[in-house]
Amino acid sequence: MPLKIIRADITQLKCDAIVNAANSSLLGGGGVDGAIHKAAGPGLLKKCGTLGGCKTGEAKITGGCKLPCKYIIHTVGPRWSGGTRGEEALLRSCYRSSLELAKRKGCKSVAFPLISSGAYGYPKDQALVIAVEEIAAFLLENDMLVYIVIYDKQSYRISENLFSDIAAFIDDNYVEVHFESNRADAIYDSVYFDSQADLPGDAQKERAPGKALRRAPSAKNAPFFGEANAAPETAVFSPSKASLEDALKSMDESFSEMLLRKIDEKGITDAECYKKANIDRKLFSKIRNDRLYKPSKSTALAFCIALELPLPEVRDMLMKAGYALSRSNKFDVIIEYFITNKNYNVFEINEALFAFDQALLGA
Ligand code: APR
Repeated sequence: MPLKIIRADITQLKCDAIVNAANSSLLGGGGVDGAIHKAAGPGLLKKCGTLGGCKTGEAKITGGCKLPCKYIIHTVGPRWSGGTRGEEALLRSCYRSSLELAKRKGCKSVAFPLISSGAYGYPKDQALVIAVEEIAAFLLENDMLVYIVIYDKQSYRISENLFSDIAAFIDDNYVEVHFESNRADAIYDSVYFDSQADLPGDAQKERAPGKALRRAPSAKNAPFFGEANAAPETAVFSPSKASLEDALKSMDESFSEMLLRKIDEKGITDAECYKKANIDRKLFSKIRNDRLYKPSKSTALAFCIALELPLPEVRDMLMKAGYALSRSNKFDVIIEYFITNKNYNVFEINEALFAFDQALLGA
C-alpha cells in the first residue's frame, strides 16, 4: 500500500527518511521538531547549523544521527493566518519539495507528520487533505512507500460533515441490520450449499432438477441486500454429487480474471488501476500472474473502488475472492457509505477508516 496512515512516534520509524516540521532557523523547537532533535542527539543541531536555515515551503536534508532512519528532511510549514496569505500553496510545497528531495536521495520509504497542524495552527482537517492530495499525486508518477504519521488522536481530524455523515450511516445500517445480516448470511449459505428446502419459493421453481442455482444475494433471495442482482444461473455442483472434474469445470471466472476483464472494460491501464487502488506494483503483478490468487478482503475492495464498481458488482467481485460485504462489520458499512455516495477516492476512504479506528483499504 503506497500511502499508509499510521499512529506512531515518528522518531521511532525505521524508514529511509522522516520529515521534520521545523522552523526557518532549523535550530530546533517544540512539537515534532523538539522530539526529533531530542532523539537524534546533539549531532543533529550541529548539522542543521551548517544549512543556513530554510525558507517556508522548502526542504533541506541531513543524516539521521541517532535515529533509526537514514535521513531527516527538514521542511518549514506556513503559520496559519486565516488562509489568505498563500498558506495552502506553501504547505503543498512542503510535501512536494520533501518528496522530490527524498526521491533524489533514492529513498524507498518516507514518513511525514501533519506539517503545520500543531503549533502553526493549520486547521487539521485541511492539513490532512493537503497532505493526502500531494502525496497521492506524487505516487501516481513514482513508486515509494509514504506514511502519514499521526502522533495522537486529537491531532487527527477529517471534516466535521464527513465524519457526522458517516457516523449517521453507521448508526442506521450497522445497528439496524445487525441481527438480520446473520439471517442474510444463513440464506447466502443455504443458496451456496444447495439445500433445496432453504431457498425461497421462486428460486426453487427456477432450478432445473439436479442443478443447484447459484445466485448472488439479491432482493429476491436475500431481502436485506438492496439491489436485485441475481448471478446468471450456472450449473453449480453440490459436493456430494459432482466429480472433481465437473467441479473444476464449473468454476466460473476467478477474482483476478474478473479484475483484468474489468480493467479492460473500463479502458484503463493496469498501472492506473493499482495506483488508484493504493496497491503496490508487486502485489498487482502477483494477482495478475496467478488466476487463482486469493487477495485479502481489503485488497479486493481496494480494486472494486479503483474500478468504481456499483454495489452489486462489488459484491460479485468480492464473492470471487470468497468474501461478502457484511453489515455487522463497521469497515464494510463505511465502504458501503462511500460506494453509495459514489465517492471512489481510496485516499479519502482511508482517511475516514482511520478516523473510525478501522483497518485501511489496500494490502
Ligand atoms: N511523531 C509524529 N508526529 C508528531 C510528534 C511525533 N513524535 N510530535 C508531534 N507530532 C505531530 C503533532 O501532533 C502535529 O500533528 O506533528 C504535527 C505538527 O505539529 P508541530 O510539531 O507543532 O509542527 P508545526 O505545527 O508545523 O509547527 C512548527 O513548532 O515545534 C515548533 O520548531 C517548530 O517552530 C516550529 C513549529
